[in-house]
Amino acid sequence: MNCAANHQADGGLVAKACADQRLRWNDDLGNSKCAFEQLAAESGMRSAVAVPVQVRDEVAAVLEFFTVEQRPANAGLSSVLIDVGTLVGRVIERRRAEQEQNVLETQVRASQKLESLGILAGGIAHDFNNILQCIFGHTQLSLMSVPREHEAYEAMLGVEEAAEHARELVTQILAFSRKAPGHREALRIATVLDDTIKLMGSSLCPSVTLVTEYDASSGVVLANPTQIQQVLLNLITNACHAMKDSAGMLRIAASPELIAAGSQSVEYNLPPGTYVCIEVTDTGIGMDEATQSHLFEPLFTTKQPGEGTGLGLATALGIVSGCSGAITVESQLGNGSTFRVFLPACDLPETQPAENNTDVQPGVGRILFVDDAPELTEIGKRSLERMGYVVDAFTNSHQALKAFQQDCQLYDLVITDAMMPRMTGQELAREIHNLNPAVPVILTSGTIGVYESQLRSLGIQSFMAKPMQLRSLGEEVKRLIHRKASGVQV
Ligand SMILES: Nc1ncnc2c1ncn2[C@@H]1O[C@H](COP(=O)(O)OP(=O)(O)OP(=O)(O)O)[C@@H](O)[C@H]1O
Ligand SMILES: [Mg+2]
Repeated sequence: MNCAANHQADGGLVAKACADQRLRWNDDLGNSKCAFEQLAAESGMRSAVAVPVQVRDEVAAVLEFFTVEQRPANAGLSSVLIDVGTLVGRVIERRRAEQEQNVLETQVRASQKLESLGILAGGIAHDFNNILQCIFGHTQLSLMSVPREHEAYEAMLGVEEAAEHARELVTQILAFSRKAPGHREALRIATVLDDTIKLMGSSLCPSVTLVTEYDASSGVVLANPTQIQQVLLNLITNACHAMKDSAGMLRIAASPELIAAGSQSVEYNLPPGTYVCIEVTDTGIGMDEATQSHLFEPLFTTKQPGEGTGLGLATALGIVSGCSGAITVESQLGNGSTFRVFLPACDLPETQPAENNTDVQPGVGRILFVDDAPELTEIGKRSLERMGYVVDAFTNSHQALKAFQQDCQLYDLVITDAMMPRMTGQELAREIHNLNPAVPVILTSGTIGVYESQLRSLGIQSFMAKPMQLRSLGEEVKRLIHRKASGVQV
């Protein structure tokens, strides 16, 4: 309690005890200017004493005692009352320390949970990238075989687009596991909302009426598009889930909101400024206070196993806080919920999406391709052969090295996975570099960004994160083979 602020103006004993930080007497309450003490005098009280309770050099409370007797200041009683004040202060201090300890322990538990989740997520992302590599490879190979006017062509572009979303999500999971922020760009929030609603498609329950209230003037934010989509997808999925047993209304709105100094900024803990406020409102089951107090904890879920992991809002909060924004919630059990996401507004122009170009560069040359996953070796070989290269593919790095040793001048390029049993891609690259330093090596991995710093010393010219797009692979292969042919030192 900030007692000085609460009692400054009333001229009573409490205000005086706060201001002086010492015990104050009044043995003539009838003369007090303080309304409360006047009321006490009217009901027969004649004297009062105010005892400040100090916690960490601050007056945390004031105890005020009244009596019907006229009692002037008394040293003996004062000393007893001061002891009482000190005792109460210690109890308050201990209580505060316990509360702070609890908050600290909760934060440590949450960060330990997040850390283990990060490790788990990193592992899943790595394996998932291999699967996506197959999806990309087969889809892009099919796109090369099917004429553009064929109806399957459009469908395959759809598969590729969905796989691209999955790839971005995996990148986010990897970023989450390394706590690295993704790249940011200026995003028109209306476009992100349109894309998200489109992506939800048939998962939006037909018994739910969707109301949208946003347009181009709703604002622009500086953020990572996949991350913001991830936040929105979770809020919308949660809202739909809350209405799954009945008809209801889902309202998605966005508008600029000015947070002025002093007012709401305290509530949202945000500095003053212009924000874009995105609101997701449902008329579903709502939440009681207990649920609301755990909402943003990782792994907190009230859903059945298989229906939710409890990571949605924890991740959303991490993303929004990373953008210097905030999430608030308003809900009543049985009466629906409104989640509000505040993101700092910016006026940068939107970046234009890249053109959808499915053409792959053809080329000439002999490539040694190594990956311990047979399905990836097969799709890699087929894709590169389709571009015109001769490819020798191996799932075993020792056998690949043997093939290279038989004729060190045979290959124009080596493409190798990084993590392989017995001999890693980096070790293979070093052996190849020792045998023929003119042969460029591309290292690939499903765990992005880890190896870049070591590349040069291993004689590796290029690193490509899985899943790779065939056209980027085609371009890189062509560039490196061309450099080798023109005698540029690698
Ligand atoms: N709109 C809502 N209405 C009612 N309850 C909600 C709503 N949004 C969230 N909740 C409650 O908060 C819990 C946590 O939500 P969160 O999104 O973090 O995890 P989840 O939805 O259970 O699982 P996940 O998002 O990982 O699939 C939910 O299980 C649910 O109890
Ligand atoms: Mg969720």
